[in-house]
Amino acid sequence: MINTLKLKSNDNDIDIAARILKSGKLVGIPTETVYGLAANALDKDAVANIFKVKGRAVDNPLIVHISNISEIYKLVSKFPANAQKLANYFWPGPLTMILKKSNIIPYEVSCGLDTVAIRMPLNVIARKLIKKVNLPLAAPSANLSGKPSPTSFLHVLNDFDGKIDAILDGGDCTIGIESTVITLESKIPKILRPGSITPEQISDVLGKVEIDDCILRKVSKNRIVSSPGMKYKHYAPKAKVIIVNGSSNKYIDFVNLNANDEVGALCFDEDIDKLKVKSVSYGPENDLNVQAQNLFNCLRKIDNENDILIVYARISSKDGMGMALYNRLIRAAGFEIIDV
Ligand code: TXA
Ligand code: MG
Repeated sequence: MINTLKLKSNDNDIDIAARILKSGKLVGIPTETVYGLAANALDKDAVANIFKVKGRAVDNPLIVHISNISEIYKLVSKFPANAQKLANYFWPGPLTMILKKSNIIPYEVSCGLDTVAIRMPLNVIARKLIKKVNLPLAAPSANLSGKPSPTSFLHVLNDFDGKIDAILDGGDCTIGIESTVITLESKIPKILRPGSITPEQISDVLGKVEIDDCILRKVSKNRIVSSPGMKYKHYAPKAKVIIVNGSSNKYIDFVNLNANDEVGALCFDEDIDKLKVKSVSYGPENDLNVQAQNLFNCLRKIDNENDILIVYARISSKDGMGMALYNRLIRAAGFEIIDV
């Protein structure tokens, strides 16, 4: 067991976190999307430790975080004009770009690929820390593999207390779902993971953009995919999640008809009073931003209700931010959907 330091976000504590990272150890850090499990991206042993502590599949590469655009040049072998354009529009912010890596990025980060994922977070604490460390930080989401992503200090503590050297408390994540991932290494830029920066926003800047067809589909373990993360089970609480696709009334009827002590609901604010099962609401039906902020916390709450075995989840839109939410929920549900 390691004594996990619980750090605040003042300058003194950021200094402590920076020292820990420089010495090759892991620190849980806040970002605007979800908390990250960070290590020096240029230290292959530190990076290997991320995979070990998280239980992460060794073919699922990590995102490298920077605090200023100028830091990207030594990390990539090419920084094409369309990538520069995206960086100017969306960085700092929840956009991750896949580019050709330079030699200083260890293959432990890219899992043997010749590309690297890079992003500059909006969160000021994260950028202060990166600047202080003066190194790029590799960081996947700070959850045990397969679990819902962490959007608060306590979520990280739950998964990693005693397993990493420190966690930096930056409060709750303002966005709540992971960054949009886009590759600029395909002929036409392609979105590999939807996030709060939508395909529409990106195509306003770049023109034509593709959306990988694995985003909303199940992918077999053996298939070669553009982004290895697509293959794995994600975001799942212990209870089985089933998406119920239909209007509010149909959903409520369906859940109440199937109600028993072992059933729970992941619903919208508008539904909650009409449901006869243990329910968690993740926001108003029409406020996708609030839904995104709450989704992972709600999935973790369901985990704490040990008697809930099946959760019926409701979704609203499948466009823009709705696509990003739906992408998380269908994975949490192992792609089980019931149309009502
Ligand atoms: O918002 C976020 O992106 C958060 C915060 C901490 O920055 N990080 C995050 O990391 O979500 P992670 O490891 O949970 O997800 C990274 C995703 C995975 O799906 C991975 O397969 C993909 O990015 N990825 C990383 N490097 C890649 C590469 N070279 N080519 C294709 N996909 C890559
Ligand atoms: Mg993750």
